[in-house]
Amino acid sequence: MHLEFLFNNPPIAEANAPAKIILCGEHAVVYGQPAIAVPVSALRVTVRAYANSPGISGLRLVFGEPITQITLADISESPPDNDPLALPLWLTLRHLAQKPPNVTLVLQSQIPIASGLGSGAAVATALARAVVAALGQALEQAALNKIVYEVEKVHHGTPSGIDNTVIVYEQPVYFVRHQPIETFHIGAPLTFLIGDTGQSASTRVAVGDVRRLFEAEPERIQPILDAIGDLVVLARKAIERGDSEELGRLMVRNHGYLRQLTVSSPELDTLVKAALDAGALGAKLSGGGRGGNMIALVTPDTQNPVRAALAAAGARRVFETTLG
Ligand code: PMV
Repeated sequence: MHLEFLFNNPPIAEANAPAKIILCGEHAVVYGQPAIAVPVSALRVTVRAYANSPGISGLRLVFGEPITQITLADISESPPDNDPLALPLWLTLRHLAQKPPNVTLVLQSQIPIASGLGSGAAVATALARAVVAALGQALEQAALNKIVYEVEKVHHGTPSGIDNTVIVYEQPVYFVRHQPIETFHIGAPLTFLIGDTGQSASTRVAVGDVRRLFEAEPERIQPILDAIGDLVVLARKAIERGDSEELGRLMVRNHGYLRQLTVSSPELDTLVKAALDAGALGAKLSGGGRGGNMIALVTPDTQNPVRAALAAAGARRVFETTLG
């Protein structure tokens, strides 16, 4: 593959998208409860579009180490339904009624995959934006959000839509399935540490297991989902008035409910306990669970001890993000 040629020339277009964390409400959000998610702007997917080397035609995407490539020559065929990389390109081209441009897209991501940070939605968003930019076109956020939601179905089966929404709009969202998007005010800055268990986990499997649990024991599971929804309402109010101590308590309660839904793991529980023991105001798993990432709410005083405690308890990486 002749990639060197590409890099002799500057990209003709560039696009990106952020990671996300769910502050509270994951899983219950699939059942119509509210959830709160925020973008993590420091972790991003970037896609650069280069004019194709001579002799190469169609829309080519290259990524990874060793390099993998896919090519989209035409969009007249049926959509590449099972390919979460080709699908956003196909859907975007069809929406714009354009042929694949003669470019190579090079994808680079800082977001760990299959770990609850929204990597799939961020990749789809950045790919769609890159192809739009390479064509010199524009695409409304609402249309992009629909495209990325279609791709999320490949990743997740029955996604609530929270990941694509927070990532496309890059705003804190108070999300309720099938309701208009709501953002909200952050009363005082909030700093979260994100601790990575290093274990990838399938959101599709976790969501499917919760579904089976719900169907087997609705009278036990429904009150847990309702209780999560209630605490999300309180969490929004706590964030709006800048009450981080209350938010921390609600996060701890949320983690307990997620354990009851069977989506935590020994590694997540270990990191949550380590963060709380080191003085975090709150800590919980974030996203699909069973692995992936947890979040801890910290103050300037507790940030360093909590970071050290997470590393000592086995976190592979610790990221930091501040809201507001
Ligand atoms: O993509 P993840 O792992 O952050 O999970 C998304 C949140 C869930 O509530 C578990 C699923 C969904 O579609 O909302």
